[in-house]
Amino acid sequence: MKERIKKLLERAETGQNVEVHGWVRTRRDTGSFSFIEVNDGSCLTNLQVIADSGLANYTGEVKKLTTGCAVRISGTLEESPAKGQRVELHATAVTVLGWADPEHYPLQKKRHSFEYLRGISHLRPRTNALGAVARIRSRLAYRIHSFFQDRGFVQVHTPVITTSDCEGAGEMFSLSAGAEAVGVTGNDFFGKPAGLTVSGQLQAEVYALAIGDVYAFGPTFRAENSNTSRHLAEFWMLEPEMAFCDLDGNIEIAEELLRYLLTDLLNHCGEDMALFNQFISKGVIDILESVASSSFGRVTYSEAIDILLKSGQSFEFPVSWGMDMQAEHERYLTEQVFRKPLVVTGYPVAIKPFYMRVNDDERTVAAMDVLVPGIGEIIGGSQREERYDVLFRRMVETGIDVDEYQWYLDLRKYGSVPHSGFGLGFERLVQYVTGMPNIREVIPFPRTPGYAPC
Ligand code: 4AD
Ligand code: MG
Repeated sequence: MKERIKKLLERAETGQNVEVHGWVRTRRDTGSFSFIEVNDGSCLTNLQVIADSGLANYTGEVKKLTTGCAVRISGTLEESPAKGQRVELHATAVTVLGWADPEHYPLQKKRHSFEYLRGISHLRPRTNALGAVARIRSRLAYRIHSFFQDRGFVQVHTPVITTSDCEGAGEMFSLSAGAEAVGVTGNDFFGKPAGLTVSGQLQAEVYALAIGDVYAFGPTFRAENSNTSRHLAEFWMLEPEMAFCDLDGNIEIAEELLRYLLTDLLNHCGEDMALFNQFISKGVIDILESVASSSFGRVTYSEAIDILLKSGQSFEFPVSWGMDMQAEHERYLTEQVFRKPLVVTGYPVAIKPFYMRVNDDERTVAAMDVLVPGIGEIIGGSQREERYDVLFRRMVETGIDVDEYQWYLDLRKYGSVPHSGFGLGFERLVQYVTGMPNIREVIPFPRTPGYAPC
């Protein structure tokens, strides 16, 4: 029977006959045996295979196996005398499914830099670190769904193609149709300019105001010319939107979600997390354990500005009330002052998008960002402006064409209710939990200015 190595290593009985499929990580020969380390991607650990010289293809094939070759191996599981592994596989047949010419295969058995690996993005998931990231990403995505589904949220598939720029920041990629293929030119396909969504929020609001608590989880796009270790042109965003929910309720869900995901990750992805703990971000497991079991810091924007002004630090971007906080400010607050995830509320109206609810002071909005050590902003959200007149005024002030957004205003005209939501940058979350220095390593196929292979 075809088995995944993870399952065998966890619970197989010795004496069991199995068949495994995977890729050779290493082979070494001693006397009349070869030890082959096989990995099938189901877990970090390799299965040790003992192939003895009695195998019919031993000299012709087994002894020619090199890193990267694909194999099918049948045999019997035996107790392993080696440290750190319960069982090993004594091969009765080794079939080579695909050779990997060692002269040319770019992944040799040494450590490669992440930068080098980025140049071979079609092969890099075969490395330990990128394989571990892929498994962690998958687990986090799965648990995001279970968190919301268990709480009665409905997933809404918001559109990738849109005619509304949610954040109003002019970072939308614009679309043009292949003129010949469709018989219309450029922007005429949709009758008006369209682009790739920067956020599914506005459409999520439509559904929240119809069926209650919803969430969107999908790819979003930003034509930001930011070549940083935390920006991508294509990234995934989780966007819950809750009807009958104020800013405090919004923050509660965000905190509960992050703690839930960290707890699950530590319980379920221990082996992969140990790799990051040892090689990428020493101590990350202890940090996540403590974050998972304590409440986040809380500060208002105005308090945060005071802290920064009194810090005596020299920042590249000078601090003053009204400024948009930069990563250096966010990181100072969460890393040096609070030393844990930090929720910042009450940002100035002028630096936040039109949809955020204006506070009674008229200077600030009911916004909340969650900042984490090592990264800075991981979540951005707010209570939404549910008052028609105030929203209308804000749209005019920020230069939004109210005719184009009449549908959004309608939500405030008919049965408007207080509602809130946030956006969690999924790659920033994966970066946070793994401690990977660059966001390009936590998405399978990163897109950044000047870079979009395969
Ligand atoms: O703060 P942002 O821009 O918020 C919104 O788009 C809201 N409409 C979300 C909502 O309320 N439903 O983006 C949300 C998060 C950020 O906190 C950050 O984690 C991530 O998305 N993000 C990026 N991640 C990677 N690359 C980029 N270029 C990102 N821009 C934002
Ligand atoms: Mg933001």
